[in-house]
Amino acid sequence: MTAVTVRSAAPGQIDLTRPSCARLYDYYLGGSHNFAIDREYGRRAIAQWPQLPAMVRANRDFLRRAVRYAVRNGIRQFLDIGSGIPTAGNVHEVARRADPGARVVYVDIDPVAVAHSRAMLAGCSGVTVLQADLRDTQAVLRDSEVRRVIDFSRPVALLTLGVLHQIPDADDPRGVLGEYHDALCSGSLLVISHGADDIEPDRAHAHQRLYAGFGTPLWFRGRSQVLDLFGDFEVLEPGVVPLPEWRPDSFEVDAHDLHRMSVYGGMGRKS
Ligand SMILES: C[S@@+](CC[C@H](N)C(=O)[O-])C[C@H]1O[C@@H](n2cnc3c(N)ncnc32)[C@H](O)[C@@H]1O
Repeated sequence: MTAVTVRSAAPGQIDLTRPSCARLYDYYLGGSHNFAIDREYGRRAIAQWPQLPAMVRANRDFLRRAVRYAVRNGIRQFLDIGSGIPTAGNVHEVARRADPGARVVYVDIDPVAVAHSRAMLAGCSGVTVLQADLRDTQAVLRDSEVRRVIDFSRPVALLTLGVLHQIPDADDPRGVLGEYHDALCSGSLLVISHGADDIEPDRAHAHQRLYAGFGTPLWFRGRSQVLDLFGDFEVLEPGVVPLPEWRPDSFEVDAHDLHRMSVYGGMGRKS
């Protein structure tokens, strides 16, 4: 990555003194949009939890399956919140393979994720990127560019993958999703993937301690708490399950992987 001179932690700027979630995730995926501080903590995280790279790959696979499912079920608009640093198989690529007219809004709080998304999407019509905090629902839903790309009178797939475990209970993630629910029309989908604290609790807690140590606390949740986040969305089969179990492409789901895959996934529908 090229040199970046900004060193402060001012909002919206790049802080090189501590890792960022978006850049760590990129590191786990084998990407190149990360800095020395991210790689240092990334190596520590993987040493503690060797399954991490497999989990983030499973998360990307889940994303692709969920997008394809949505397109098969008539959805042509995607609001991807906490979209991260672009990597192979982004939402617009997967959706447009099925329907070239699919429209996508990427939203992230992280300036590096937003800068890379903007660079990648330059000249790509029907796709846009917004820097915003998902908790500020009105900033997302009322944004003029978002409303230019997405027609809220038609169904939307709201994608929240790997992001809600960065929202503490005190910020009421269920209530935040409820505000999105109210803004979407019937037939819209909510997709969640979420770190679990009840599959490998010791490793999950060690990981949380590592992230809390550099000022990015994670709120992993148990299966019933993740289910609760869906609120008024009706949860579709197979429910909230470890990621590889959610509508797998292949019937061969490795049982060994399932037990060690500490991320839940699920999809809900607004009736
Ligand atoms: C683990 S990455 C997941 C990326 C992508 N959704 C995926 O699943 O492959 C989580 C992303 O959420 C973003 N994020 C964290 N808190 C956020 C917030 N309050 N509002 C918007 N984005 C947020 C981070 O910057 C990061 O890029």
